[in-house]
Amino acid sequence: MTSKAAFQNIVITGASSGIGAALAKFYARPGVTLGLTGRDPVRLGVVAAEVEAAGGTVVQGLLDLRDRSALTGFLTGFDARHPVDLLIANAGVLDGRHADGVVEDAEIARRVIEINLLGAVDTLHALLPAMRARRRGHIVLVSSLAALSPLPDAPAYSASKAGLLSYGRALRGAVAGEKIRVSVVCPGYVTSAMTETHIGNHPHKIGADEAARLIGAGIARNKPVIGFPTQLYLLSLISPFFPEFVVRLATKDIRFHVAPRD
Ligand SMILES: NC(=O)c1ccc[n+]([C@@H]2O[C@H](COP(=O)([O-])OP(=O)(O)OC[C@H]3O[C@@H](n4cnc5c(N)ncnc54)[C@H](OP(=O)(O)O)[C@@H]3O)[C@@H](O)[C@H]2O)c1
Repeated sequence: MTSKAAFQNIVITGASSGIGAALAKFYARPGVTLGLTGRDPVRLGVVAAEVEAAGGTVVQGLLDLRDRSALTGFLTGFDARHPVDLLIANAGVLDGRHADGVVEDAEIARRVIEINLLGAVDTLHALLPAMRARRRGHIVLVSSLAALSPLPDAPAYSASKAGLLSYGRALRGAVAGEKIRVSVVCPGYVTSAMTETHIGNHPHKIGADEAARLIGAGIARNKPVIGFPTQLYLLSLISPFFPEFVVRLATKDIRFHVAPRD
């Protein structure tokens, strides 16, 4: 068990909103430096001010993680001054079926996979060489229960999160001998700007602060997969063993569409 006080230099991507913002506040305390990234300067500034009010120090990275050189430049620059012991690759987007009933097109599918999967992979590889050299560090990838139980209304989102889950589980085995830890988070519904655009039911939805607490507890225990809430996590794990018509029937009340975001 590693206490959260063990982490001194933390990077969280997608910290300007929702789960990332809640995680930043969860880890904020005197002596901790947080590298927080996002695209919206106002929202990122508000989170940074809250972290600083709790005694933490913040370095803000205003960037789109599809800009690989900006992403890598920020992360390696931060690490050179504050050797990162916890990286949470959390930034992500939801898209899929829209209100007109049409499921995503090729452009949407590419964008979602680029941000959610390739963006997270680029994020971790920017810091992995330095962690390897230090033989220390915990990498956390924020996936989704959609990785285990794919959503018919969001195929690319489901694929991006399944890819991330698989990548993280494989990487955990690959770098265990180098003393680097890897965990993958699979949340169910969490209150955030993302769920506001998810027009449909949100069974067992929890608050972002509660999600941050559960993620922090899973990181402290070095869990390979941090899945919650328990009921939905267990259902997602066993759903591939059910006949397709049973899954369709059981999930008919959680069909949704995605509202455009301003
Ligand atoms: N909420 C849920 O129910 C739920 C469930 C399962 C998994 N998740 C996952 O949890 C993570 C956080 O989601 P959330 O619910 O907290 O959503 P959110 O409130 O919409 O926050 C998403 C964060 O990602 C950042 N981001 C998005 N696209 C980006 C890009 N191209 N470049 C840089 N940053 C980008 C956003 O930055 P800006 O706003 O500054 O652009 C924001 O800080 C995501 O990976 C999501 O898939 C969420």
